[in-house]
Amino acid sequence: MLQLILILAALGQLPTLLAQKQQWRPAPSSTASVNPQQQRPLLIDDEVHFNQTLNSILVPRVVGSQGHQQVLQFLVQSLTNLGFQTELDEFRQRVPVLGELQFTNVIGYINPTAQNFLTLACHYDSKYFPNDPNFVGATDSAVPCAILLNTAKTLQPFLKKQFLNRSDLGLMLVFFDGEEAFKDWTNADSVYGARHLASKLAKTRSVLSGTNQSIRNIDRIEVLVLLDLIGAPNAKFSSFHQNTHGLHTSLVQIEQSLRKAGQLQGNGKMFLSLPSGGQVDDDHRPFLEENVPVLHLIATPFPDVWHTPKDNAEHLHWPSIRNFVKVFRSFVYQYIRLHTEPVNLRYQRG
Ligand SMILES: *[C@@H]1O[C@H](CO)[C@@H](O)[C@H](O)[C@H]1NC(C)=O
Ligand SMILES: *[C@@H]1O[C@H](CO)[C@@H](O)[C@H](O)[C@H]1NC(C)=O
Ligand SMILES: *[C@@H]1O[C@H](CO)[C@@H](O)[C@H](O)[C@H]1NC(C)=O
Ligand SMILES: [Zn+2]
Repeated sequence: MLQLILILAALGQLPTLLAQKQQWRPAPSSTASVNPQQQRPLLIDDEVHFNQTLNSILVPRVVGSQGHQQVLQFLVQSLTNLGFQTELDEFRQRVPVLGELQFTNVIGYINPTAQNFLTLACHYDSKYFPNDPNFVGATDSAVPCAILLNTAKTLQPFLKKQFLNRSDLGLMLVFFDGEEAFKDWTNADSVYGARHLASKLAKTRSVLSGTNQSIRNIDRIEVLVLLDLIGAPNAKFSSFHQNTHGLHTSLVQIEQSLRKAGQLQGNGKMFLSLPSGGQVDDDHRPFLEENVPVLHLIATPFPDVWHTPKDNAEHLHWPSIRNFVKVFRSFVYQYIRLHTEPVNLRYQRG
């Protein structure tokens, strides 16, 4: 940690250290308006791509359904087209109501042999409602998944160049399957895919190049950034986890600086500076249990349309989506650009 702080200081990017030690965060994009050359990738939206992507995901996609299979294929194809090495984490499991189902997490890597990963995640299954076969879960989580693919798409030239010769960091996109409960949300009936993947990454190890050290693959995740419930008006994103509060603060600052630069629509603040009192249970649970640092980007309070037939295209709020897309893209860009050494935000035990 100390080492990292010194390096950032040398770059003139000394982050404000909040509350605790270990609060590394990429500095806000203070150069946004002064260095258009460097910032150019941040400024180019591709909403045509976003809309096409969202349309492909925005179908009923309950685990085991035909729509689910189609979306799975779409995710694999999209990741492959964007230059990711794609892996499927497949398993069968018996669940309430629907019985035995086949689950498939989709994982895309850029720079798969890197020491550590910036991991961005969403869930792609839609919730099963016996009385509503048309439920599409627009905010839950078609929009978050479209945001991940659109971020990769719009940063593609930057990512290609960045990861040609780097070993400190790779990018990992995770599309979790089976986040939703089939009956009532419990620890057993929820986050099926996340539990399977966390367990697999905790059991497998890699030997990093240039060392004889073997480390658990789950420990190569520097931070799991989980997006959920995005696309409704007036969304507020709080900071849920103390060890990633610094990262959350960089989102607050990026939002501020983009708003100042006239890049955002409306004046409603999305990213709140104050830590939230509690946490929201979600796909990050099994990763938290393995001490993976988590940045949970979920709207609280939940959208009004949450788990209702109204969580569809018609009720999406486009200014909010566009604002989130811009801030998030800038965050990912900054994280990768300013990263030079492994960042350890894990809670220290003992
Ligand atoms: C994307 O879709 C939204 C909702 O249909 C629409 O308002 C917007 O104009 C579309 N953007 C583009 C670039 O087509
Ligand atoms: C990676 O490539 C860039 C541009 O080609 C160069 O500036 C940088 O020094 C290289 N980094 C390493 C670690 O080789
Ligand atoms: C790795 O192990 C081999 C054999 O034990 C040894 O020769 C080599 O120096 C080690 N390399 C590093 C980087 O520790
Ligand atoms: Zn849900």
